[in-house]
Amino acid sequence: MRIDIITVLPMILESPFKHSILKRAQEKGLAEIHVHNLRDFSENKHKRVDDYSFGKGAGMVMAIQPIEKAIEFLKSQRNYDEIIFTTPDGKLFDQKEANTLSLKKNIIILCGHYKGIDQRIRDTLITKEISIGDYVLTGGEVAAAIIADATIRLLPGVLSDETSALTDSFQDYLLSPPVYTRPAEYKGMKVPDVLLSGNDRLVDEWNLGQAVERTKKLRPDLYRKYLEENE
Ligand code: 6GU
Repeated sequence: MRIDIITVLPMILESPFKHSILKRAQEKGLAEIHVHNLRDFSENKHKRVDDYSFGKGAGMVMAIQPIEKAIEFLKSQRNYDEIIFTTPDGKLFDQKEANTLSLKKNIIILCGHYKGIDQRIRDTLITKEISIGDYVLTGGEVAAAIIADATIRLLPGVLSDETSALTDSFQDYLLSPPVYTRPAEYKGMKVPDVLLSGNDRLVDEWNLGQAVERTKKLRPDLYRKYLEENE
């Protein structure tokens, strides 16, 4: 899978992909991430990437010209399955969307800035608009990193234990059960007996019961989806 990220702040995206699992995914050739500086596509003599907005709305808008040039340049190199724009008024990102994206071959993520992009670019060049939550960030870079992270870890071979993505929180609308490590007793608190029993069937049952209870209590919205899915 190849992800091209277009941004006015490429520095913010330097570190997230240079460590641990995402670094190894790239070394193994499972994922390619290319970060492009929007400014490099500006034909303005000052390399400007913003412009004034029409109407009464205060604030700057991302200029049309560099965005169009960057996207058209990438599209001339290969076919893209999605051209995503990160914006607080996009569709809320969730595990299901990460699953969907992980099946794509080439995607572009355009990081939103200022008051956004011209509506006509959204209407014509952008194929998907994504928000990562109901709060406002200074820009879409962190959102792009989150979308890429959640997507790449699902690619076959990225996680060492291939089943571990299947048992993630959210994959089946359930939160994960609690986990324990050594010692079996810590400050007088014991690890539940069943986890020390060595009985796989009982452990599975206990994990599911805990997951259901936690979800019911902490995320009633998710729990309703779980019930619908398992009717
Ligand atoms: Cl994708 N961008 C910005 N600027 N703020 C956000 C967001 C995106 N998602 C939630 N808040």
